[in-house]
Amino acid sequence: MKPDNRIAPSILACNLARLAEECSAAIRAGGDLIHFDVMDNRFVPNLSFGAPLLKSLREDGFDGYVDVHLMTYEADGLIESFVEAGANSITIHYEATPHVHRSLNRIRELGCDVGLAVNISTPLDFLPYLKDRLDMLLVMTINPGFGGQALIPAALPKIEMARSLFEADRLSTHIQVDGGVKLSNIRTIADAGADTFVVGSDFFSADDYAERVAQFRAQLA
Ligand code: DX5
Ligand code: ZN
Repeated sequence: MKPDNRIAPSILACNLARLAEECSAAIRAGGDLIHFDVMDNRFVPNLSFGAPLLKSLREDGFDGYVDVHLMTYEADGLIESFVEAGANSITIHYEATPHVHRSLNRIRELGCDVGLAVNISTPLDFLPYLKDRLDMLLVMTINPGFGGQALIPAALPKIEMARSLFEADRLSTHIQVDGGVKLSNIRTIADAGADTFVVGSDFFSADDYAERVAQFRAQLA
């Protein structure tokens, strides 16, 4: 069964100087989880932030659900520090990790929800071997590295394929989409089978976050 829809504001697009307030406001507005984008300037051509920022956010009292999207090589060396910093879920990239099965197991052992991300051109051939490890599959709908890009429609059939593979096994694994999700396309993406929607620029550019969440939910209704 397809899980309930979830909205995941991406802090890459927020005012980082006011991170704790922005995260609290996003959840108060009806966002379901915070999407925390980590970039290493190697796997992706950009640098963002690391575990100390998440630790500070927790020390500041933010207790909402945080999914860490690791757009990095050598994720194994980072998993533990993000768990200690207060991650609820860690999503690693299939393309950036040599022993994906082991890395996913490590995330689970440390008590976090387990996510696996795939780039646009990565096929889902691995799914038979990894599907029982996953709480969430993240289908990238842009080339990762920057917010504010347009969704690449070629990703939509992959979402459909993933949902039908999970449904064939009666798995209610989350399918998250990340990149270019807007009010104008969220319904199409949901119809393809996604249930968790990362929203960066089209969320934090809104004057009223609660109104924006309501607009997203109206599209999904
Ligand atoms: C980019 C990140 C995304 C980004 C999405 O590589 O993984 O999470 O914040 O931003 P928008 O929603 O603006 O495309
Ligand atoms: Zn992301």
